[in-house]
Amino acid sequence: MSDVHIVILAAGKGTRMKSARPKVLHRVAGAPMIDLVLQTASVLQPRRVVVVVGHQADVLKRALEGTQDLTFVVQEPQLGTAHALLTTEGALRGAAGTVVLLSGDVPLLSAHTLQQLVHRHETTGASATVVTAVVDNPRGYGRIVRSGEGIARIVEERDASPAEREIREINAGIYAFALDGLFAALRGIAAENAQREYYLPDLVAIYRAKGLGVETLTVTNRDEIRGINSRAELADMSRLLRDQKNAALMAAGVTLEDPATTYVGQGVEVGADTILHPNVTLEGHTVIGSGCEIHSGVRIVDSRIGDNVTVLDHCVITRSTLDARARVGPFAHLRAHSHVRERARVGNFVELKNTVLGSGSKSMHLAYLGDATIGETVNIGAGTITCNYDGVQKNPTVIEDGAFIGSDSQLIAPVTIGKGAYVGSGTTVRTNVPDGALAVSAGKQRTIEGWVGKRKK
Ligand code: UD1
Ligand code: MG
Repeated sequence: MSDVHIVILAAGKGTRMKSARPKVLHRVAGAPMIDLVLQTASVLQPRRVVVVVGHQADVLKRALEGTQDLTFVVQEPQLGTAHALLTTEGALRGAAGTVVLLSGDVPLLSAHTLQQLVHRHETTGASATVVTAVVDNPRGYGRIVRSGEGIARIVEERDASPAEREIREINAGIYAFALDGLFAALRGIAAENAQREYYLPDLVAIYRAKGLGVETLTVTNRDEIRGINSRAELADMSRLLRDQKNAALMAAGVTLEDPATTYVGQGVEVGADTILHPNVTLEGHTVIGSGCEIHSGVRIVDSRIGDNVTVLDHCVITRSTLDARARVGPFAHLRAHSHVRERARVGNFVELKNTVLGSGSKSMHLAYLGDATIGETVNIGAGTITCNYDGVQKNPTVIEDGAFIGSDSQLIAPVTIGKGAYVGSGTTVRTNVPDGALAVSAGKQRTIEGWVGKRKK
């Protein structure tokens, strides 16, 4: 294989999205559509990946910068797809071999098709190879006009004759080109068409007139070449990807009680014999072990869940870790860097942030535990609050093994509760409590006999 370079077109406005955001940043089943394109393109191990940006160029660049080794080229104004490719001339100067042109809004193209495209292009020695598909409804696409066996030209819908409009073989907008002579040929394209744009598909007729080889690769799975132009298409595409992911999970031994309402991101892994109840959302780089049960209304983002974990209804878990046999919820909120160790339990209306809850420890009701390191078999009573923020900075709380924190206690950080120590209910802990000690701060209770009766008079 010779050198492969990738150009991704993403300069267009995406008018029908009716959005202030660049179209290619809209999410398909959780991931920006251009991420899917970049991921697929990477199988070709390209020398360079050039992204043509234009509309909302800065927003797009900022979103993509740092994620990969990309070269950005700004196309301003946007005068058509041929003009877009021409703007990459400087970025590809000195490059030889093949350039594969992709569209940032065609996210389902498979790695296999891309490999086939390059293979077909290089083994035939063609100057251009066009990906095509035969569809039931060709509306809006450029039509492939053939003469004899070969492709003669591509005509856009607006410029097509009634007979040409009947053609059901369409241009997918994905091509391989030999770099040799490409830019010189692009300069020969005129904007003599209904849209007054420089059309890249016009290159086909130009090459054929010169006697250069133009090949086609026809894909049978039409979903692969579907572009996204509207919110409705975005939703359709998301559903398609989710269905594929759900099917793969079920094939791997995961139970989905209601696949239609199960939202699992493409990068998520789930172990066998795990059960996902309806309305579960798993996002980002989440890994879930086997034998888990994730109940309804749970959302888990970028988290690691061990084996045999139970998450009861309506929990939100973000960038956290749950070890084997942990049990969380219902209605718990685990924020970034929370770690619930083996067999530990977190109950309703408990919030954890940057906190370790040691093995076998419990916080079953109404608590806020932030910046806390909690040992093993600790009991956190209802209404316990770590006062971790003093208005300037966050301070740590340490609760050592076997400690017991009575209900409605405030632990004013930085503070340490020693091994096996007790904190009485309603205590405000301001200083460290040594191992085995009892801390109480509530004043003596006053009881006034008959007070209610006297008040009524
Ligand atoms: C294009 C093809 C059509 C094909 C269809 C497949 C042309 C003239 N037509 O039509 O034959 O069937 O794709 O989906 O190429 N872009 C730029 N700069 C520009 C114009 C477009 O970067 O100046 C980008 C767009 O952001 C988009 C891609 O190129 O990612 C395709 O452009 P679009 O306007 O959607 O072309 P179509 O009309 O869909
Ligand atoms: Mg389009």
